[in-house]
Amino acid sequence: MPQLLHHIALKPLHTFGIDVYADSYFPFCENEELQAFISSGQIQPYQPIILGGGSNFLPVGDIHQLIIHPQKKGIRVISETDDHVWIEAFAGEVWDDLVAFCVDNGYYGLENLSLIPGNVGASPVQNVGAYGVEAGDCIELVDAIDLQSAALVQFSNEECQFGYRHSIFKEVGFKNRVVITRVVFKLAKQPAFHIDYGNIRQELDKEDGISLANIRNVVIRIRTSKLPDPAVIGNAGSFFKNPVIAVELAEQIKSKYPNVPFYPVDASLVKLPAGWLIETAGWKGRQMGRAGVHPLQALVLTNMGGASGDEIISLANAIEKDVFEKFNVRLEKEVNVIGQHH
Ligand code: EPU
Repeated sequence: MPQLLHHIALKPLHTFGIDVYADSYFPFCENEELQAFISSGQIQPYQPIILGGGSNFLPVGDIHQLIIHPQKKGIRVISETDDHVWIEAFAGEVWDDLVAFCVDNGYYGLENLSLIPGNVGASPVQNVGAYGVEAGDCIELVDAIDLQSAALVQFSNEECQFGYRHSIFKEVGFKNRVVITRVVFKLAKQPAFHIDYGNIRQELDKEDGISLANIRNVVIRIRTSKLPDPAVIGNAGSFFKNPVIAVELAEQIKSKYPNVPFYPVDASLVKLPAGWLIETAGWKGRQMGRAGVHPLQALVLTNMGGASGDEIISLANAIEKDVFEKFNVRLEKEVNVIGQHH
């Protein structure tokens, strides 16, 4: 039976490399273990936080909340037709191991999401996305445990309310209240590719044709050329979301910067790359204390060695203020900041 553990080092449990501790930590594998823990009443004094692979997590100081950590691994085909396959994966499974499994077995849908750090359980929460594909496109259903009632609850794709880096699991009443334990994905057995984002098509020309394995290779190559490896330089991928702004404001920015890249959302809104705003504001490659802006992708803030969560937040806040002053655009943090900034 898993135990409630105390004074646990968080450095090995997240990718930003911040050297802090958690007062209380509950790792578990089976649903019944978490359900028994809930029934024991030990969660009551705490405001729990759910941790996945720790790749979107920035602790600011020691964490006094209870950290709940689903750890069960496993990937299995549970059903198939001539055209589709349904795959279950448990929350503690490494996301990229699931993508590799799908690519190796000829299942289409997740290949553009190769090498995204993190675990399967977190993929529906922020609807991880890259190169024109989002996890929600392939999610059939999500199993979770309600931390108040201990009941097992199931969410259909529609009930997950997927949006850009968003789902119901980020909303009040669900965030840190339901613990995702299993996700069922629906993938295609017939070829269907998404290669129109950025330079994917161009990079594919260097390979011997379009295939699942070649798309995976290309995505891995693009990611490793731009994004720092968290095992070497602490980071949490994109620190900010790409802001969605009014077309009129985008036009104003365009009149000054004709080459600003932007993507239409609907008739009145467009999405701007936060990386472009941060770079154009002059922050790319800069350092403040031991926190840095990655020189190859300005959307990624890095721990240059021994940084505290406060140092990273100070840099992020300075960037937000400057981008607002220069472009009248508010950046929103994508990373989960846990604890109080001083
Ligand atoms: N850009 C700049 N300067 C920069 C970074 C980007 O000008 O420093 C410009 C690029 O030139 C390009 C545009 O911004 O025109 C978009 O850049 P990129 O394709 O690198 O993607 P992104 O919008 O910056 C998003 C995701 C990434 C994901 C990529 C690829 C968000 C918050 N981030 O970044 O996700 O890998 O698209 O799909 O949506 C993550 O979430 O951790 C992450 C890395």
